[in-house]
Amino acid sequence: MAFINENYLKLKAGYLFPEIGRRVREFASANPDKNIIRMGIGDVTQPLTPAVLKAFHEGVEEMGNKDTFKGYGPEQGYDFLREAIAINDYLLRGVSISADEIFVSDGSKCDTGNIQEIFGNENIIAICDPVYPVYADTTVMSGKTGICQPNGYFDNIVYMPCNESNGFVPELPSKRADLIFLCFPNNPTGTVATKEILKMWVDYAIANKSIILYDAAYEAYITEDNIPHSIFEIEGAKSVAIEFRSFSKTAGFTGTRCAFTVIPNELFAFDQQGNPVAVKPLWMRRHTTKFNGVSYPVQKAAAAIYSEQGKKEVKELISYYLGNAAIIRKSLSEQGYTVFGGINAPYVWVKTKSNLTSWEFFDKLLHETNVVGTPGSGFGPSGEGYFRFSAFADRANVLKAMDRIKNLKY
Ligand code: MLT
Repeated sequence: MAFINENYLKLKAGYLFPEIGRRVREFASANPDKNIIRMGIGDVTQPLTPAVLKAFHEGVEEMGNKDTFKGYGPEQGYDFLREAIAINDYLLRGVSISADEIFVSDGSKCDTGNIQEIFGNENIIAICDPVYPVYADTTVMSGKTGICQPNGYFDNIVYMPCNESNGFVPELPSKRADLIFLCFPNNPTGTVATKEILKMWVDYAIANKSIILYDAAYEAYITEDNIPHSIFEIEGAKSVAIEFRSFSKTAGFTGTRCAFTVIPNELFAFDQQGNPVAVKPLWMRRHTTKFNGVSYPVQKAAAAIYSEQGKKEVKELISYYLGNAAIIRKSLSEQGYTVFGGINAPYVWVKTKSNLTSWEFFDKLLHETNVVGTPGSGFGPSGEGYFRFSAFADRANVLKAMDRIKNLKY
């Protein structure tokens, strides 16, 4: 008899984005004449930039030539990419991270989920509410939780509600937390954490021998000064944090797939006897056993974002999406919605009107304006009554969507 992993049975309904996709498909097949504007999942719409594309092509050509062909690459990623990351993403910000602490992968979604595997199931995980659903769902899948209670919270997860009163920035947990997921700029609320806030978290982690799992997938969208782009800008963080970064939202790689995770050499967790164990070799062991690396042309394309031309193009790409976010913010505020985020992030977090629930607003928007967004409650109970607009749509569609929303009847 084959037994299943029963933790999967504890999960609630489907993963959020496929569920939205299902509802939209249903609506589209019943209304084939409607022009649907998608501002739900944070998927990019603008093509790879010329410098990236050129490098990508070159990589493909090299693979087709006997003299430059490459088989399996180094599991941690090619040196040229890890060195470019270490210099451009860290050294130039005054942070010393060495190439050997960087693991190139095919996505931060995979990495933030898979990282759970190297930590014991007795760890108590802390997550924000609302939260990127991957952290919660993979915690459940890994067996670190009990069942889901009627309030939407799983037993053995420490939830940190983020709401208007705390500016959507989590407060320190009231109960023990061994592994803490933080994401800044935040998905879904679009808020950021200052140096002082991150220092508070690093101090907490040091005092409690905890580890912060820091998702910085949206750091390239930070526009305000004095907002850290990396947790490692905070003193002491290298002994208590892992950082996840991605080329997806920075350079349009959602379909191309490339990301990286940084595990500092000085990061230690503990065995059952309380002996310190270095974390990086465990991830290395996992990575080399279960992963064969990202393809050479993709890594070559990713490295191109660090060239002078690549940096310029990425900056333009990000300004384009931030321009969309500014349009969404302005238009919805003028229409009387309360809006958050969208200044240092590609997400605008909006309070629904007339006390509509998030899914009621989703349906109203879909049926009356044919615009798709993401219901806040899909990110956790504290997201109820909120709605997330992704700024990754095409500019013309953003403008059209805002016009259509003006005509919503309450
Ligand atoms: C989102 O819409 O929250 C993101 O696209 C999810 C992701 O990056 O996996």
